[in-house]
Amino acid sequence: MTTRDPNDSSSWRPATQLVHGGTTRSQFGETSETLYLTQGFVYDTAEFAERRFNGEEPGFVYSRYANPTVAMFEDRIKMLEGAEAARATASGMAAVNLALMAAVKAGDHVVAAKALFGSCRYIVETLLPRFGVESTLVDGTDIDQWKAAVRPNTKALFLESPTNPTLEVIDISAVADIAHSVGARLIVDNVFATPMFQSPLSLGADVVVYSATKHIDGQGRCLGGVVLSDEKWITEEVMPFVKHTGPHMSPFSAWVLLKGLETLPLRVAQQTANAAKIADYLAEQSAVSRLVYPGRADHPQADLIKRQMTGGSTMVAFEIDGGKEAAFRFLNALEIIRISNNLGDAKSLITHPATTTHQSIGEDARAELDISGGLLRMSIGLEDAQDLIDDIEKALKAV
Ligand SMILES: Cc1ncc(COP(=O)(O)O)c(C=O)c1O
Repeated sequence: MTTRDPNDSSSWRPATQLVHGGTTRSQFGETSETLYLTQGFVYDTAEFAERRFNGEEPGFVYSRYANPTVAMFEDRIKMLEGAEAARATASGMAAVNLALMAAVKAGDHVVAAKALFGSCRYIVETLLPRFGVESTLVDGTDIDQWKAAVRPNTKALFLESPTNPTLEVIDISAVADIAHSVGARLIVDNVFATPMFQSPLSLGADVVVYSATKHIDGQGRCLGGVVLSDEKWITEEVMPFVKHTGPHMSPFSAWVLLKGLETLPLRVAQQTANAAKIADYLAEQSAVSRLVYPGRADHPQADLIKRQMTGGSTMVAFEIDGGKEAAFRFLNALEIIRISNNLGDAKSLITHPATTTHQSIGEDARAELDISGGLLRMSIGLEDAQDLIDDIEKALKAV
């Protein structure tokens, strides 16, 4: 039984929305969000069931369509993002796939930035063409390439910013204008920016997707994803896809992720403060030949970052002199920072993109994206920043 309309709270500030937004309570008035671990729902009469199914009676019918705990998660993140509607999915990749599949049909065309997470590139380059959707990849930082790539049948433009793993930043407003000039939707994967530092919808994007697995959980527990957009598109295009193909988030994951949202601003702020200190330290090291950190004045797109983002990043990318061998020696000497391909976690994690997250895209694509053998991508956590710097210092000695 709902005792409060979650939509009343839309005027709250983000930190308040993330603690209380979307909460519905049962007749017991529990403090914490309830975990409705149920597949289905029962109806007192056959007539009532009929009305639920034909939409005359609002409510839940089956957890593949919607579930009260998942709905709380969707309402909470929807408020933060300033979106009209949201659908939560089982993983970030399910969200990316859902957003793209809902936007296109055979004969359509998609333009995407080359610098995409490996699995996102697989969908754009390999999967969509199998179903008759052509795709063009562009250098996302070059606005002229986006302009040249769109066609009358282009239905979706897709980008992530900052990019994984080289932390390039793409001008979302400029790409949104190009998308709208041909009647296409701009889909932004906002995972690296987090909802705390970048609001793609307010910059002109039509759809935002997240891997909730990253900062939103932030404690390494479960996978999740979400697609946010306008009510009409979510209802007419996204919802039928969810209902009939089954990528919906589990209630348990939604419950974990609701708790993650409560502490998201605190974690992202502290992890970013730690990351800034580590980036400044790495910039001074002779063994580090390249450092990319979106919070530093020497980032190649520092002006755009100022316009488009409200904070730096929890992520640091850097290149070690000596290629893969030196990078591996560095990784193997670390003790606190753990080798892992996940990111956004309370624990600092580091990955060698060329042999992990971006192994499958092949050598040529890696060269094009500046993913060298010496490149490392570090996700900074909540440990004491000095302990992390000590760990890095010791590992640099091993290089
Ligand atoms: C930018 C980006 N998008 C999407 C994903 C996919 O998320 P998930 O692992 O939750 O499916 C990832 C995962 O690393 C990512 O880095």
